[in-house]
Amino acid sequence: TYSLIEDAEGNPKNIIAVLRDITETKKLISELGEAKATLEDRAKERTANLTALQEISTVLARATGLNETLALILECLEKKLGYIFTAMILVNREKNCLDNYMLGPSVPVEKMAKMVGLDLARTSVSLTAKENMLVQTVLTGKPQFTHDLSDYSRPVVGKHLIAPVQKMLGIKLVGAIPLTTDEEVVGVLSFARKTEEPLTEEEMGVLMTFTNQAGLAVERAKAYRDLEESTKALEEAKNYTDSIIKSITDTLIVVSPEGSIQTVNHATCVMLGYEEKELVGQPVGKILAEEEEEEVSLFKGSGLDDLIKKKFISNVEKTYLAKDGRKIPVRFSGSVMREADGKIQGIVCMAQDITEHKEAEKQSLQSEKLAGIGLLASSIAHELGNPLSIMSSTLQYIRDALLNRGNRQLIEAIDTTVDSIGEMHELLGNLSGFTGSQRPHFESTDLRRILSRILSFIHKEAEIHKIKAYHLFDENLPNCQVDPGEIKQLFLNLFKNAIEAMPNGGELHVRMHLLDSKDAVRIEVSDTGHGISETDLRSIFRPFYSTKSDGTGLGLSFCRHVVEEHGGEITVKSDLGKGSTFSVILPLRQKGTDKSEE
Ligand SMILES: Nc1ncnc2c1ncn2[C@@H]1O[C@H](COP(=O)(O)OP(=O)(O)O)[C@@H](O)[C@H]1O
Ligand SMILES: [Mg+2]
Repeated sequence: TYSLIEDAEGNPKNIIAVLRDITETKKLISELGEAKATLEDRAKERTANLTALQEISTVLARATGLNETLALILECLEKKLGYIFTAMILVNREKNCLDNYMLGPSVPVEKMAKMVGLDLARTSVSLTAKENMLVQTVLTGKPQFTHDLSDYSRPVVGKHLIAPVQKMLGIKLVGAIPLTTDEEVVGVLSFARKTEEPLTEEEMGVLMTFTNQAGLAVERAKAYRDLEESTKALEEAKNYTDSIIKSITDTLIVVSPEGSIQTVNHATCVMLGYEEKELVGQPVGKILAEEEEEEVSLFKGSGLDDLIKKKFISNVEKTYLAKDGRKIPVRFSGSVMREADGKIQGIVCMAQDITEHKEAEKQSLQSEKLAGIGLLASSIAHELGNPLSIMSSTLQYIRDALLNRGNRQLIEAIDTTVDSIGEMHELLGNLSGFTGSQRPHFESTDLRRILSRILSFIHKEAEIHKIKAYHLFDENLPNCQVDPGEIKQLFLNLFKNAIEAMPNGGELHVRMHLLDSKDAVRIEVSDTGHGISETDLRSIFRPFYSTKSDGTGLGLSFCRHVVEEHGGEITVKSDLGKGSTFSVILPLRQKGTDKSEE
């Protein structure tokens, strides 16, 4: 600094020069500049890190799968933090190794791998290889750093192979940070960069945030996989029980506490004729017959108490209602199904179709009744036999006496009476045969003769009802081994029924022919009467089943009895309003009878 000194008049007198050393100042200024630059760098770095973090959290929020999440993290690390490469390697606890390599997108790790002849998809590092830096990271749970890439790759790839790669890529620092969940280390995040300096606290912080995110993602993926596995197991268990339920041959229905059907098995659908979807969700009353109204309420509201109190009921008889309106008797068992806390989950109902059982029961009851009636009938027949014989012989005596006086009309009247007594005798004989106590007496018989006789016998009655009778018999029909008395009764019954079915007249057709097999004959009795309803068809052969006000219901059951005794078959076809056809098949020969009898 220079300064001019003047005298009193203002003339310059002296010049004072001041010299100052400004080295320090210069230094200070440059230091200040540097500090400013560092601060700016720091600020930039921080902003970059913060933006990176923010970006990561936004993308991570969208990512769902584990691989997607990890890939996103790696991508962000490489792009935002400028690492040469990043990789994520997961711990495989089952195989006790590190495998499942995942690489960042921009980095030539794969190229690197190829250079050293590695197939990353198949590469794994055993967790017993303690000299490996990644393994150390897993075992210690702490970040590891090295300047030598071979620390990272051994023992899989040796130093001589990896050193040129490190040089080529300019890698100065390699780091590995553990991915941890609450319980354990699940993987390692590794990276390489071009600067040698250790990571700043700031950088460490960012990396920790990334690895925490990755750890969370791994954990989430694991939980998801566990969930998937247990869902699968659950599904398998469900399929298993479903197939058990399906294969149960008894019907199984699960009813909700509110009384609606929750589950039905295949057997239920088959028995009731419904599709599964037609039943599920429906009130259980839909499949219980009306007279079971009380029972229906069993499943509703307070009525449930009964079953719940008893916990289960077993083997009670109920009636299910099929889709087509059929009532199906079932043997029913029900039990209450509860949840762990005692809440009622539903009622399991098992039922067995006992139609056949019931039928058999009814039939044995009927045949008992029948046997009783038969016994009565046979004893009456026996008791009436004697007086009828007496009547017959007395009439013969009178007839002989009249013969001398030549009164033809009286004689004819007596002949008719004697004939009728004969018929009565025969009928009574058949009646006693009905008990089954007397074996049928088979003899070689000309069926045409018998049928013609019966037809002429009913001729009068048919005429009265304006019924025309036709017959068509095969010529050359061989004789047939039958009990003629029983067969006569059999067809008399069929003809009588036919006539009774045509109160306003009609046609009666009787056809007889030899079967192709030549060992049996078929006799068909058709009428053009009112026909038989489908429900009646199921029952007409039952003893005492009659739709007539004065019917006994014994005719057809007797017919079936006779046909079965002969080893034959009786069937019926009917068209309601059009007529019916009864067809009887009789074998030509009976077992155990001599052929010479013919
Ligand atoms: N030809 C037919 N046409 C129509 N219905 C018939 C015929 N034959 C038998 N039925 C039916 O079968 C029932 C049983 O016949 P059946 O055993 O002979 O007893 P019943 O004649 O005493 O009624 C009859 O009540 C009738 O409803
Ligand atoms: Mg009858």
